[in-house]
Amino acid sequence: MTAPSGARPDEERLAALVRAHDRWRGRDVFNLLPSENALSATARKYLASDLAGRYTLPIEVEREGETLANSYTGTRYTDEIEAIGNAAAARLFHGRFATVRPLSGHIAALSALVPLLPPKSRLLAIQPDEGGYDGYAPGFIPAVFGYTVRPLPAAGPGHRVETEAAVSAIQRERPNAVVLGQSFFLFPYPLKEIAEAAHGIDALVFYDASHVLGLVAGGEFQDPLREGADVLYGSTHKSFPGPQGGVLVTEREDLFRQIDPALVWRIFDNAHWNRIAALTQTLLELERFGRDYARTIVENSQALGRSLSSLGLPLVAEAEGFTRSHQLHLDPARLRAAHGIGPAALARRLEKQRLLIDLVARIGTAEATRLGLTPAEMPRLAELLVRGGLKRERVGAEVLAWRRTYRGLRFT
Ligand SMILES: Cc1ncc(COP(=O)(O)O)c(C=O)c1O
Repeated sequence: MTAPSGARPDEERLAALVRAHDRWRGRDVFNLLPSENALSATARKYLASDLAGRYTLPIEVEREGETLANSYTGTRYTDEIEAIGNAAAARLFHGRFATVRPLSGHIAALSALVPLLPPKSRLLAIQPDEGGYDGYAPGFIPAVFGYTVRPLPAAGPGHRVETEAAVSAIQRERPNAVVLGQSFFLFPYPLKEIAEAAHGIDALVFYDASHVLGLVAGGEFQDPLREGADVLYGSTHKSFPGPQGGVLVTEREDLFRQIDPALVWRIFDNAHWNRIAALTQTLLELERFGRDYARTIVENSQALGRSLSSLGLPLVAEAEGFTRSHQLHLDPARLRAAHGIGPAALARRLEKQRLLIDLVARIGTAEATRLGLTPAEMPRLAELLVRGGLKRERVGAEVLAWRRTYRGLRFT
């Protein structure tokens, strides 16, 4: 990445920053942030394609007595790109109707909620203090769109949703919609029972798969639409290794007919067609490689959990095998008691040693799995995390040398 000739100082600096970032995040660290992933080379190429600067708006408008099918010209290829993406998303997530247009996981949530739930609707959603997404807290999406929200209970340090507690909350609160999905997401939900209870009171079930979308695509974790969710949506860049963006899938034509026409001009306008090409490529790659990818992620998470725990790093849900997803959660109370350090300080210490975990106690294995790490490498990764994080050893050079042995990505 070099600045153009004759560039001004800010342009030179910009080129240097992007170059440095690419080297740092692309080659010099192990990224264990559960919210991120690495794009395949083909998907990256599509992101940088000419599509990045184009518009298409395949929606009928009346202008001067004429019905126009699109407001733009030059769009002869975009419709087919989108159609391939929508069909792949529908196949992968076992629905009949899909849209790859939502610009992010948050926008995918709005794409489901806003068209289907009028103001004053009542939501039941897992709240942030129990691992839920902050967007579903009263001050955010509910405040903006006039919803009331009550907590769907999740229990214990692993923030698990238990059948009995969830069903009785549904029967007690009688919401219009139940929103499942968490930012701290270790275990699948008893979805069949939750959906039965929700449908018994005519409530919709939304499954926010932002974190686990790549696992669902590969047949791991759970199969939300087949287990009773009405709409599945989420981010396409966490365990799903696509471009930053969103997707929405449903089996129900009646719902999709309300959702799809309502998106443009209410939730977004331009859907970013380079992103859609890159997302479509990733969907197609996961149709081929998703099973191995998702299974390896879960195996890596569980193996890393065992190794970390045996080296004295306290994690939640040990008795349940730590996790069924791409995430592991540090146990902050036991971490402080045993080692006198909190998760954020630990993460900052590890960052200096080229190991990235997040500041809120989550460790993720999706990107490491893409790089090619397998359960056989998890003891070594755990040892570096413990030496760098708990023993304050300077393991950065060792991490760098090891990281440099991974070139390219698997499952593409
Ligand atoms: C459960 C959940 N839903 C939605 C989002 C928002 O996703 P995005 O950042 O793609 O808008 C997040 C982000 O972390 C999330 O954890």
